[in-house]
Amino acid sequence: MNRIITLDEFIIRGQNTYTDATGHLTRLLRDIGIAAKIVNREVNKAGLVNILGIAGSDNASGDDVQKLDIFANQVFIDCLNNGGECCGIASEELEDFVQLDPVKNKEAEYTVVMDPLDGSSNIDVNVSVGTIFGIYKRKSDVSGPCDIGDFLQKGTELVASGYVLYGTSTILVYSTGNGVNGFTLDPSIGEFCLSHPDMKIPKTGNYYSVNQGYYLKFDLEMRRYIDHCSDSNLRLRYIGSMVSDLHRIMFQGGIFLYPNTRKYVDGKLRLLYECNPMSFIIEQAGGTAINTKLERILDLDVMDIHQRSTIVIGSPDMVAEMVKFVERYSAVSI
Ligand code: AHG
Ligand code: MN
Ligand code: MN
Repeated sequence: MNRIITLDEFIIRGQNTYTDATGHLTRLLRDIGIAAKIVNREVNKAGLVNILGIAGSDNASGDDVQKLDIFANQVFIDCLNNGGECCGIASEELEDFVQLDPVKNKEAEYTVVMDPLDGSSNIDVNVSVGTIFGIYKRKSDVSGPCDIGDFLQKGTELVASGYVLYGTSTILVYSTGNGVNGFTLDPSIGEFCLSHPDMKIPKTGNYYSVNQGYYLKFDLEMRRYIDHCSDSNLRLRYIGSMVSDLHRIMFQGGIFLYPNTRKYVDGKLRLLYECNPMSFIIEQAGGTAINTKLERILDLDVMDIHQRSTIVIGSPDMVAEMVKFVERYSAVSI
């Protein structure tokens, strides 16, 4: 039997390679792993218990909230609150950031941004959902409460980011800026086990992922690029969960786009807790992530927790090709 490397063991090994590592980030990642297992358990039994359906409230971004969104949000908050390494959390499900218990989290150095359940409209139909997280080092003094400046940091400041995909199997993928590794949950032993070391995204691929139903609402350059994808016999895949769509692209290569539409003039996806953490991972795997103005996502200023951004992300050669379409057609009137 091959030797199994669990997530906890891998994290500790990674810590031991840095002589100045304090172990705080290690414990924080471990806490996220615990929260992911609890959310996984509930996602798996969502069809069995009365936890399905819309909770009847809107989240801070105005979307319908599913019950599991709220549950997952609370699980991550509780696990991080008990862990002692996180001073505050910004989440899709919270209007403002929350301070964690200053006694339990005395002198905690990190803040966490998260989309606790991504693609939540998929739950009722038994299709994959995910969690996205990003970890920042706080800028404020560790002896006091955290402040908004600890969250409104560019993606380049991320210390770590990752995602969990609750799919046919459950996989946790993360990076601390030194490559990307994936861990599949073995339900028989309840552990995330290293299954995909040093993940690299293919330079190009056969898939494009975009909500083509909005085609007529896209700008000319985007419509021309999508025409090109279609003319090139690329395969269209769109799950409606960015985590799931990008996970395929990580393995098989491809491009994911959420451009501006007439409804979402700045794009729909949220910069802080969707675009930045996923861009960090994709870049670490050798991919590219930009907005439709051709700016690198990780370089964008973050002015608001729930700020939206357009995004074009995936295999580097495919994103580079899309750039040519923007350069060629964006000055042309419709
Ligand atoms: P969430 O469930 O966290 O609100 O995120 C859903 C996001 C993203 O994951 C997905 O790619 C996109 O919304 C789908 O939006 P459309 O239905 O507009 O295509
Ligand atoms: Mn989301
Ligand atoms: Mn969500």
